[in-house]
Amino acid sequence: MVNKLILGDNFEILKTLETESVDLIYLDPPFFSNRNYEVIWGDEGEVRSFQDRWAGGIDHYIAWLKERVIEMHRALKPTGSIFLHCDWHASHYIKVELLATLFKKNNFQNEIIWSYKRYTAISKKFQNLHDTIFWYTKGSAYIFNEDREEYGENSGKMDSHYKQDEDGRWYRWQKRKNQEPYKIYLSEGKRVGDVWDIPIINSSSKERIGYPTQKPMALLERIIKCASNKGDLILDPFVGGGTTLAVADKLDRKWIGIDQSVQAVKVTELRLNQQTDLFTSIYANSYTLQLHKYDYDVLRSKDAFEFERWIIGQFGGAPHSKKGGDAGVDGAAADGAPVQVKRTESVGVNVVKNFSVSAKQFDKARFDKSVKAGKPVGYIIAFSFGKGAVQEAARLKNQENIIIELVPVDTIIPVSKKPSIKLEVNELSRDASGIREIELIASGQSEAGIEFYSWDFDYNSENGFKAGVMIDRSGYQTAKFKAGLHAVAVKVVDNDGLENIETIKLKVNGTVERTV
Ligand SMILES: C[S@@+](CC[C@H](N)C(=O)[O-])C[C@H]1O[C@@H](n2cnc3c(N)ncnc32)[C@H](O)[C@@H]1O
Repeated sequence: MVNKLILGDNFEILKTLETESVDLIYLDPPFFSNRNYEVIWGDEGEVRSFQDRWAGGIDHYIAWLKERVIEMHRALKPTGSIFLHCDWHASHYIKVELLATLFKKNNFQNEIIWSYKRYTAISKKFQNLHDTIFWYTKGSAYIFNEDREEYGENSGKMDSHYKQDEDGRWYRWQKRKNQEPYKIYLSEGKRVGDVWDIPIINSSSKERIGYPTQKPMALLERIIKCASNKGDLILDPFVGGGTTLAVADKLDRKWIGIDQSVQAVKVTELRLNQQTDLFTSIYANSYTLQLHKYDYDVLRSKDAFEFERWIIGQFGGAPHSKKGGDAGVDGAAADGAPVQVKRTESVGVNVVKNFSVSAKQFDKARFDKSVKAGKPVGYIIAFSFGKGAVQEAARLKNQENIIIELVPVDTIIPVSKKPSIKLEVNELSRDASGIREIELIASGQSEAGIEFYSWDFDYNSENGFKAGVMIDRSGYQTAKFKAGLHAVAVKVVDNDGLENIETIKLKVNGTVERTV
């Protein structure tokens, strides 16, 4: 199975997952009535969906989540686990009205308290300093890899259960059902409890990617290590900044991630690429990215045979397996009629003329039957059709009752052109040691609207784009450069998730020169 990152409403996508195929699900859905979340969130789709859905209060929220968790339960393997991350806003409703009804009572394993430090405004109550994670399993046989945490050698002094042996090592007696007590040493660590002290991602965290609601990798590491094994399939239906996928990838698990926000999916993509080391291929697990729209240029430049096979599949047909040799018939449509694919624009009159001949040669009986019944004798798929082709198809239909359907690619799949991007460079200042401060202004254009920019100030085409600044909504950066040659790349992402990249070489010397 190939890892998958999918843009879309998880409800629709969850329905397409195979039953009993997933080993572990971690979900961190948007919280009920978390007002800040709406404000921080810049993504219009997200703000809208939040307001629409939860105007009706907690019942609406639970109903919204429940229909999704039903699909997750279906997709879980009998040995699978689900970890649902929430907080005081909705945790009790979620446990009673949702999890306890969908999962059997005995399959509740833990209510995990994720405890963290942060400083909130003074108010007339205690600070809220924890989130809740419910762990349920689908059945009674499930994966649990015990985790132990350090218990310093000296803690024995403080804990009256511990004694010192003749070598001065601290131990205590541990009883097990129907077994003699045995010695357990402090150095073996202690079993991890259900309260986890893990720092939140604050403004100076190294792993911070600038995504609101980003969860720490240490939290996901514990969940994934304890409740899955290498090679297992992990699902995160609310991907956000991609923490689960980044950790799953590092721990050699397979994954599927879904998010309805373009920004979330694209930031996750940048994050995964950032941790991909092409030279050592440590985390270079490949994945497919599914957006709402396909990039026109990418489709046009695809290998012709690969494109043929793929588009016939999208059209609901079956491609022929061998290259060429079929006299212009590349596959069969869902109704069995021949299909020809042209990976070009403005297909001309001769293509239609020739195809009417090849369709007939290919299967004469079927051709004659279709003509008689007034059904299509075949289909031509292309990016667009010239006037001559359209007229010829009309003439064949009107004069000979031969119907050849001309099918533009964008009626099969949504296609869009990638955004364009321009980059302006100006020197702002220079200091005595020769360091220049440079202003970089990126401007993107897209019919869909620009979502954000990302920057790589030390671009190396062999390593690929590694974002130094991941989310920049303005397209404006200043950076300092020493004398020498530098490569800078900026990526622009539009609201369809399509992207473009501009790279420049900067020669920083007496002056700043932009070289092509
Ligand atoms: C709390 S964030 C997840 C944060 C993530 N755990 C991380 O570490 O970055 C919730 C995410 O759910 C996404 N979301 C909300 N409703 C969704 C839906 N119906 N389908 C898919 N994603 C959705 C939002 O776009 C948002 O990115």
